[in-house]
Order: sequence, then C-alpha cells, then structure tokens
Amino acid sequence: MATNRTFTMLKPDSVEKGYIGAILEKINAAGFRIAAIKMTQMTDADARAFYAVHSARPFFGELVEFMTSGPIVAAILEKENAVEDFRVLIGATNPADAAEGTIRKLYASSMGENAVHGSDSDENAAIEGAFHFSGREIF
Ligand code: CMP
Repeated sequence: MATNRTFTMLKPDSVEKGYIGAILEKINAAGFRIAAIKMTQMTDADARAFYAVHSARPFFGELVEFMTSGPIVAAILEKENAVEDFRVLIGATNPADAAEGTIRKLYASSMGENAVHGSDSDENAAIEGAFHFSGREIF
C-alpha cells in the first residue's frame, strides 16, 4: 500500500548555487507538506551507507565525493501518493531528459549534479527518512 511520505535531499549543487528557496517553493506549490527539514553535511561513511545500493556502480566514487562536497538540505515530504508525485515533480535523473518545468530541468546541470534526490519507493522513503531524522525531528 502506498504511504504518503517521501524523502528528498537538495544536493550540494543546489545549496552552492543558492537554489534552496526556489526549490522549496516548487515543492510547496506542488502541495507537499514539510514534515521534517534540516541542513547537514554527509560524511564519507554516511554517503557510502546511504548509497550502498549503488556501491558496485562505476559512478559510486564520484557520487560519494559529490554528495559529501558540501551541505545538503534533507527533508521528509508529505502528500497523497508522495513518492510517485515527487518523482514527477523532480523529473528524470539526467536533466537532459527531464521534462519542462521539472526541478531537474530548471536547476540541475548533469547526471551527477542533478539538484535533488527523491526516494524511489515507499520502503526506501522510510529507510532514507530514518537515516537522516530521529522521531523527535519529524512532525
Ligand atoms: P539519485 O537518484 O538521487 O541517487 C543516485 C544518484 O547517482 C543519482 O541521483 C545520480 O545523481 C547518480 N548517478 C546515477 N547515474 C549516474 C551516472 N551514470 N554517472 C554519475 N552519477 C550517476
């Protein structure tokens, strides 16, 4: 059964370029409620654990290096059909393939530096949210 929460990170490129406000505005305008939010920076061990599913991929080292290169904004978002609707809002992983008006089309520059993360399933949304937030930080 679908849950109503997803997890996102505004990646280091978004923070560095000053896009936090604009991206959060798009998220709010699309009807998501922010249930948890914080700025943080992942350590090498954090990123390796968070992206463990990609550890055998050729881009894993690049991914870990990028995701630890600066602060991120982590958030848990709430909305009916949250996982699927958020993936539509952010667009394809590669911004070159992302639809007009999507967050990645507007703010991402490459497959690696693609502005935002969005959970790919309800199960992963719960795991990823719990990775970054304690129960006391979720409202
Ligand atoms: P995301 O879906 O948030 O989480 C996995 C990330 O791996 C993905 O975003 C991309 O940023 C990154 N990624 C996927 N494929 C590639 C690739 N071929 N080269 C570099 N990074 C990639």
